[in-house]
Amino acid sequence: MDAGGPAASESEAAMKRLGILTGGGDAPGLNAVLRAVVKTAEHEHDVEIIGIEDGYDGLVLPDRTRPLTGEAVHGLIARGGTILGTANRGNPFARRVTRDGEDVIEDISAEVVTGFERLGLDGLIAVGGDGSLRIATELGLRFGLPIVGVPKTIDNDLEGTDVTFGFDTALGIATEAFDRLQTTGDSHHRVMLLELMGRDAGFIALHAGVAGDADVILIPEIPFDLEVVCAKIRDREATGRRFSLVAVSEGARPLGGAQSFRALADDLNVARLGGIAAQVGEVVQRVTGKETRTTVLGHLQRGGAPSPFDRWLATRFGAAALRLALAGGWGRMVGLRGQAIIDTPLAEATSTPKRVNPEGEPVRMAKGLGVVFG
Ligand code: F6P
Repeated sequence: MDAGGPAASESEAAMKRLGILTGGGDAPGLNAVLRAVVKTAEHEHDVEIIGIEDGYDGLVLPDRTRPLTGEAVHGLIARGGTILGTANRGNPFARRVTRDGEDVIEDISAEVVTGFERLGLDGLIAVGGDGSLRIATELGLRFGLPIVGVPKTIDNDLEGTDVTFGFDTALGIATEAFDRLQTTGDSHHRVMLLELMGRDAGFIALHAGVAGDADVILIPEIPFDLEVVCAKIRDREATGRRFSLVAVSEGARPLGGAQSFRALADDLNVARLGGIAAQVGEVVQRVTGKETRTTVLGHLQRGGAPSPFDRWLATRFGAAALRLALAGGWGRMVGLRGQAIIDTPLAEATSTPKRVNPEGEPVRMAKGLGVVFG
């Protein structure tokens, strides 16, 4: 099915009311998706769009929906975050609820279906990362809920698309951070480490590391040897390059060692990674005698206005998702392949996470430039 192509008019005629929600961590471009869905629905089709607040929670909790009109999405293309709000703990298959005064974890997925029916929706557009889209997949498989997915995440760790929106914006911010760390690091002859987001995928660190001229890039897909990292910094020193830049993905780990966490996972929350760059920095300082400084870029990578590319991609995804829904393409996700908008089964896109290929061309290219992966 070509999501970019014309919608099937028969199923379109039956479609009157579509819901849309944004789930998981926010990514620049979410509002641009909402805007594109609403504007395309208004200009090309006679379909009402209902905004559902705070992810799947909005289908379960009362008074969490509102009609989205052209007026409501006016000027949204440049705005970061999501006007609908999102929820990290809103998994309806394992949600915290209070029963008899006690907090328990329950599967309340059937309530999502009830909420969907109560709103009189003909279909749902779920904009999310791997977690939210896995929930969408499951809701479709178990209850036959008609859902179309739109991939978002700054981590770029979703199959079924060459790239997710949010990634380009995060890269821009991370690359600018390297440019800034370079001038101060150079002036003080220091080793500057930058910890970047990405969870278990090293795309942000790899791409921004190359774009920001990092000398060392540590990613989850390639466990590192600190001896090799220190040797690279000493080699640079020996050739008169008295500063170094090190990109550290938050999910990176030493050979034979474990990832670093700020908070461990529990019944409701996924684990929060963090702290690995500071650990690497301490060892590098001790072993090489070079002064090190560590910066954790954190949520600056996710906040604020989307880049022009992310505005463009999010807008294409939004328009394509609406057309896919109108064509009855339930259980599918829009994506980008080359220059074309495509769609793939949600179950396929969410079955295996996308990771950096340690043997792939981008890693080989970086190594060819002299970048060390540890
Ligand atoms: O998945 C997006 C992401 O930004 C990851 O890169 C990061 O590890 C995580 O979300 C942070 O989540 P939170 O906003 O819950 O701290």
